[in-house]
Amino acid sequence: MKMQTDILILGGGIAALQAARRLSMRFEVHIITKADLTASSSYKAQGGIAAVIAASDHTSLHIQDTLTAGEYHHHEENVKSLVEYGSTAVRKLLKEGFPADHSLQGEISLGLEGAHSHHRIVHAGGDATGKNLVDYYVNALPKNVHIHTYEFAYELLLNGAGECCGVRVKTKAGEKTYFASYIILATGGAGALYEYTSNCPDSYGDGIALAYLAGAAITDMEFIQFHPSLLYVDRVHGLISEAVRGAGGKFIDEDGHAVMSGKHPLGDLAPRHITAYEMYKMRDQGKSVFIDITSVKNFNDQFPTIAKLCRNHGVNLSAGRIPIAPGSHFLMGGVIANSVGETTIPRLLAVGEVACTGVHGANRLASNSLLEGIVFGESLAVHLLKSGTAQSDFIPASASKKESFQPCLTKEDLQREMSAHVGIVRSEHSLSKMLSKLPSLTLHPDFSCKSREEIELAFMHITAALITNAALSRPESRGAHIRLDISEKKQDWEQRWIVFQEGIMKVRNDLYEHNQIKEHASPIL
Ligand code: SIN
Repeated sequence: MKMQTDILILGGGIAALQAARRLSMRFEVHIITKADLTASSSYKAQGGIAAVIAASDHTSLHIQDTLTAGEYHHHEENVKSLVEYGSTAVRKLLKEGFPADHSLQGEISLGLEGAHSHHRIVHAGGDATGKNLVDYYVNALPKNVHIHTYEFAYELLLNGAGECCGVRVKTKAGEKTYFASYIILATGGAGALYEYTSNCPDSYGDGIALAYLAGAAITDMEFIQFHPSLLYVDRVHGLISEAVRGAGGKFIDEDGHAVMSGKHPLGDLAPRHITAYEMYKMRDQGKSVFIDITSVKNFNDQFPTIAKLCRNHGVNLSAGRIPIAPGSHFLMGGVIANSVGETTIPRLLAVGEVACTGVHGANRLASNSLLEGIVFGESLAVHLLKSGTAQSDFIPASASKKESFQPCLTKEDLQREMSAHVGIVRSEHSLSKMLSKLPSLTLHPDFSCKSREEIELAFMHITAALITNAALSRPESRGAHIRLDISEKKQDWEQRWIVFQEGIMKVRNDLYEHNQIKEHASPIL
């Protein structure tokens, strides 16, 4: 089956919905998602949307917090846009009726999370901000936005001019091909490459693999954020929001001792890579870790989603502690995109977690991701509304010779190996070991007779290989990239981006300029 439209969006999180809502003013929009609209990190987001709303707060402080948490590995102009436009956009959202939580006095209630110098987290339903936000957007979508669930995109099509002009998908009923003037990747991250994750269980980094195979430039794959607190009862079951610590929760060990005491000036609200590393070290020594919630007022009312999650897994909240473990949470890297979503492939755009615009640096500031979706979903749409043109060439260029690509690990083995060798901590030894388990990457895999599950597994291998290669190639520790063999930051690796494209890895000193340092250009292993 074939279909042609103006705009095709892959993914159904907040970045996709924000773009769709605006683009529908002029264009026919189709959204396709591999599951349904509740299966996104946006929908699962608990904490909220970071934005400068309070009179006592200032955008310069939010910018500073973002840069400090991400250890200055940013595109500062884009950070400025995120924070400044974000403040305006979130105020507008509140004014138009988004049901954010308010205090009894009728003021907007602003939460606190790790590494923020101010209370600035807008939340809804206590800890159900993502669900409320997604529902709010979906309910307002006009008729010319069509949603197709359970459709899995497995190949981006380029025409003879090298422009993206379509997508091949697998549905429950068979195959479909969509052609569109613009294709927008909003497929989210890759948390499910690891055993423990807060992400949806099929968050395999599909969008990264799709874009890489189409020839787009990808960067910052070594920067994977691990969240310090996922509910742990035999295995992990979901997030215990940082907002719990913002409301007085504390990390404790099994004897009740404060784990973060003396570890960082911000203690329990230190940047996430620091708290996650501390929790990892405790568990690595065979110790259990908990969040002590005895100082959190009205826990059940403030955090109804978390309270229910705990109850469902037999955690007795009146005992005052929640067992936790760290797990993968967010990918700072992704498909290189500018502030209006343009990638290195004409007519292919990327927005949200799948994109890398340099706003998160080496470690994302808490609650900056819903903000990113709102801000860059909007700027992408505004750009296309102004300057979008219809595609006239929908003929895919004849495919180059296809090669077989045989994933060699099962899904579970890949998740285990990634956790063991490319997880919260890495070293040259562990990364080389992981690489030796992965097949070499091919640029033209033959997926013609493969099932959705086989292709997903291939995508997992591709994304895992990019992460591992990047982590091996950055010989320093910075933000969420913690190398046990090289624990310090290196001056000559400041503002360096490891970029993958067409089988080659380069190191650039600007996110956007093709200014690679020659001695660092090499084939991807
Ligand atoms: C949380 O609620 O702890 C997660 C928020 C985020 O990742 O931004």
